Amino acid sequence: MKNLREQIEALRDEITGFNSNDPAQVEEFRIKYLGTKGQLKNLMGELKNVPVDQKKEAGQLLNEFKQFVEAHYETLKSNSSSAADAADTGIDLSLPGDPTPLGSRHPVTLMRNQIVSIFQRLGFAVAEGPEIEDDWHNFGALNLPAHHPARDMQDTFYIQQNPDWVLRTHTSSVQIREMEKGKLPIRMLMPGRVFRNETVSARSHCFFHQIEGLYIDKNVSFADLKQTLYFFVKEMYGANVKVRFRPSYFPFTEPSAEMDVSCFICGGEGCHVCKKTGWVEILGCGMVHPNVLSNCGIDPEEYNGFAFGLGVERPAMLKYGVNDLRLFSENDVRFLKQFTAAT
Ligand code: DAH
Repeated sequence: MKNLREQIEALRDEITGFNSNDPAQVEEFRIKYLGTKGQLKNLMGELKNVPVDQKKEAGQLLNEFKQFVEAHYETLKSNSSSAADAADTGIDLSLPGDPTPLGSRHPVTLMRNQIVSIFQRLGFAVAEGPEIEDDWHNFGALNLPAHHPARDMQDTFYIQQNPDWVLRTHTSSVQIREMEKGKLPIRMLMPGRVFRNETVSARSHCFFHQIEGLYIDKNVSFADLKQTLYFFVKEMYGANVKVRFRPSYFPFTEPSAEMDVSCFICGGEGCHVCKKTGWVEILGCGMVHPNVLSNCGIDPEEYNGFAFGLGVERPAMLKYGVNDLRLFSENDVRFLKQFTAAT
């Protein structure tokens, strides 16, 4: 029995010291220790020489040892097969993984989010509408009946398949969709992409982004419009920026105005951005025309409101110092990765 125990321990040391992930060597291991003529079988054969009163203990020892050898063999086998897999595919599993590059937000998105968040603080909710519009929502309901000369202000893309469809030329179409829903009052902001048949250049593009604002309630005044836009400008460009309104014309508002801010690049001194005028035009606005309200089923005697519309690319170009509009749509990662929310 003493002899058996010693043999087991000697073998256990030998086996513990054996390590290889070469499949041929692992197979040799199996034959040597677990094979039909292997060491384990030999030891089992010794059992018959053990005195009867020690047989039980010897049996347990041998069993425990057998499990140990088998477990060691299983470990060797699985190590050798994953090493073989790796060798087969030529992939080195010990190499670190490829890092996934982290994207960044598009500068137009950053600008839009900034503008939207300012108006959200005033309680404006966000709505969206379709980019392919019918003539009524893009023009008719906005007080631009067929053959109205102001349609020429916007170089429209028509859709051949159906002459009633256009690529929306402005987000004002979404105003109509919101008013048609008939839920009053309305305090909405409507960001989106718009399309115009313009030659693509550094300063103009056939598509760009606008944000439309609409406020409809009882007894809304032009002072409300001004106050809302003042708040926006101060939040956006700082407390020192000056604002001016110039009378203008839009068929869907009466009266209409365009709003300029003192040039935030040169502070009003005059530079190439403001074309030496000291002012930068940022949006169009006005009191919603009564015809537009009635076109949407709202009684202009009871309700009125204001609207405004601003482009997103231009303020983004000024903020980020981008000098070519085409960069925004070229998807060049070297350009896109330069922008973060903090800048
Ligand atoms: N839709 C006009 C444009 O694309 C912008 C605009 C002007 C929108 C005045 C308005 C507004 O809501 O009141 O040029």
